[in-house]
Amino acid sequence: MERFSAVLQSVLEGKKPDREDIVTLLSARGNQVAALFRAADHVRRAGVGDAVHLRAIIEFSNYCRNNCLYCGLRRDNRRLPRYRLAEKEIMSSVDKAAAMGFRTVVLQSGEDLLYSASYIAGLVEQIKRRHGLAVTLSLGERSREEYRIWREAGADRYLLKHETADEKLYQYLKPDSSLQIRLQCLYWLKELGYQTGSGNMVGLPGQNLDSLAVDIILMRNLDVDMAGIGPFLPHPATPLKDAEPGSLELTLKILAVTRLYLPQAHLPATTALGTLAPDGRKMALSCGANVIMPNLTPAGMRDKYLIYPQKADIIEEPHQALDKIKALLAELARPVARDYGRAKIFSGGYGSHDNCKG
Ligand code: 5AD
Ligand code: SF4
Repeated sequence: MERFSAVLQSVLEGKKPDREDIVTLLSARGNQVAALFRAADHVRRAGVGDAVHLRAIIEFSNYCRNNCLYCGLRRDNRRLPRYRLAEKEIMSSVDKAAAMGFRTVVLQSGEDLLYSASYIAGLVEQIKRRHGLAVTLSLGERSREEYRIWREAGADRYLLKHETADEKLYQYLKPDSSLQIRLQCLYWLKELGYQTGSGNMVGLPGQNLDSLAVDIILMRNLDVDMAGIGPFLPHPATPLKDAEPGSLELTLKILAVTRLYLPQAHLPATTALGTLAPDGRKMALSCGANVIMPNLTPAGMRDKYLIYPQKADIIEEPHQALDKIKALLAELARPVARDYGRAKIFSGGYGSHDNCKG
């Protein structure tokens, strides 16, 4: 049997990921790509079913203390008008999400320390009290104590992408932090009982298949409940403005291989994929993804949460965007999930980074 088919077979039989095997899968060509995507679709159905979870995302502040080289919200981007939503505005977006039938809200911001731990805890408590929605936080790196306070206030999930598992590349792209601190935060979140999400960008300058394989191994070792995988898209007001964007096919391959190794994780069809190609999210749903995160940020602010140019959902009104998503799901014969969508996790255990530099 050719090597590609042998490796694919071994993954489906439950073999632990190894860097060489992953690189073989990522090097799929022609018919092999179709076979990889079919396998991922099959594993997705067996692992998490056909239902697609919709999470309403509310980007409540675009202030950020960090200077990540790839991101439009970086603190040195003086061209970007900054905004912070008041509590009333955040809660009215939450009310709207609840009225539209969402079961999860994701509160996301740049690393904006003006929002204290108790302020965020207050928001979480209000959302729980008013609507009983699942609450996901995505606020970057904070202390263990802050994460604890929010968990105690009722936060269910936390998203903190590791972005790249290549330590040197990480240091170059994220000069304010380190991969080690990032991983420490992820361990704390897991310890505190959050459903924890990570993820990475695909096509970063200096990244190669080997380093992408380590991204997948890292997420499997962390036993993440969620993994956001999207292409890198160059933003004109960043130092990486002239870099090439990540490729659609490679991003889909990373998504597919991640699904093979994490059968029960929640994998979103990311907005970045939808920005890269008109059919990007549809393709993602057909090779492993089972989550979509529509944007419920108020219209006047949404165009200012510009992490990369021209996000696909920037001009759409939320009802319109939701209708389009429902039409897409109908076309794919995929129902909208009715439950809260807690991931049952593959239990590979975390803490054993035997295969991973991180
Ligand atoms: N291209 C693609 N994704 C990006 N992100 C930030 N900047 C970019 C970019 N230029 C993603 C990162 C981060 C999230 C807020 O957006 O993965 O976690
Ligand atoms: Fe800030 Fe996150 Fe953008 Fe980095 S990626 S600049 S931490 S918003």
